[in-house]
Amino acid sequence: MPRPAILRRSLVIVGPGRAGLALARSWIAAGGKLSGIVGRTPGSAREAARRLRTAGATAATVRPECDLLVLAVPDDRVADVARELAGRTRCRIAFHLSGALTASALAPLARRGASLASLHPLRAFTGDPRENWRGAFVAIEGDPIAVRTGERLSEALGATGYRIDSAGKPLYHAAAALAAGGTMALLSVAVRAAVDAGLPHKQARAALARLASEAAAATALRPFAEAFTGPVARRDVETVRAHRRAASGRRDFLALYARLAREILAETAGRGSEVQIRAILVDLDKGAPRAARRRRR
Ligand SMILES: NC(=O)c1ccc[n+]([C@@H]2O[C@H](COP(=O)([O-])OP(=O)(O)OC[C@H]3O[C@@H](n4cnc5c(N)ncnc54)[C@H](OP(=O)(O)O)[C@@H]3O)[C@@H](O)[C@H]2O)c1
Repeated sequence: MPRPAILRRSLVIVGPGRAGLALARSWIAAGGKLSGIVGRTPGSAREAARRLRTAGATAATVRPECDLLVLAVPDDRVADVARELAGRTRCRIAFHLSGALTASALAPLARRGASLASLHPLRAFTGDPRENWRGAFVAIEGDPIAVRTGERLSEALGATGYRIDSAGKPLYHAAAALAAGGTMALLSVAVRAAVDAGLPHKQARAALARLASEAAAATALRPFAEAFTGPVARRDVETVRAHRRAASGRRDFLALYARLAREILAETAGRGSEVQIRAILVDLDKGAPRAARRRRR
């Protein structure tokens, strides 16, 4: 298959962190030549350039021109770095990788003639050198020319671009944060309970993480109502009652359990026993079981 034309463009990545390096590796693996990597300091630029076998630079020494410029810096730095670079470089298309910010965060580069877009790969990059964009969902918004280029770039890297409204970005990103960090936080509460039940921490973490990832995989394949397992979806009322008893005194655990059980009931409505289960859950997500609140009064 011929190499996608976009891979012949010159690409400079600013920010040799987790997301920037994953993009750099994907671009090189797809057959693109990286024109430069820009770090905050000469040392970080040199180190990243050595690893990627390209030119390293800082904002002060960045190439004066490129086709594609990608800011892979922390969200809070995007506007400042765009301002800093606008005085020193001119590019045709500028992207940032933030899920929450819109393309307008790059406005100073538009005043130098760039078309702007945000490209958000919906993936958790942790710094592992095997991480890349292959198979990623990439949310794209911004100017029409830059959005089309973002779609071509995503496709060339084996990812799939989806256009998203600028106004929807913060909520889209909040959803992503809940799905990723929220799942981890939920696991942290669940692991604590499993350890208190007698499992060694390492085994509990591995086993519950595996269970969560199997459950998540099922939700990708089927509607929620079909994918849910567990006593609430099955309407095993006595098991739900036993869970409540076993976790009494664990306020966070019970609050989460009740809130999520209500979501399961809503998604599996019509299976019966809903009134009984709601009665078991009543008040748990208000912070303390009824009996404990009565004792405090
Ligand atoms: N990690 C993810 O899973 C992920 C996924 C999707 C999108 N994103 C987005 O990608 C962007 C970067 O996130 P990240 O997780 O990769 O952060 P990160 O690992 O902290 O990397 C940020 C990089 O930017 C560099 N930097 C900061 N200021 C700079 C400047 N003025 N000039 C050049 N480089 C500068 C940092 O250098 P120093 O270390 O020297 O400060 C660091 O190398 C964010 O917008 C984030 O929302 C991240």
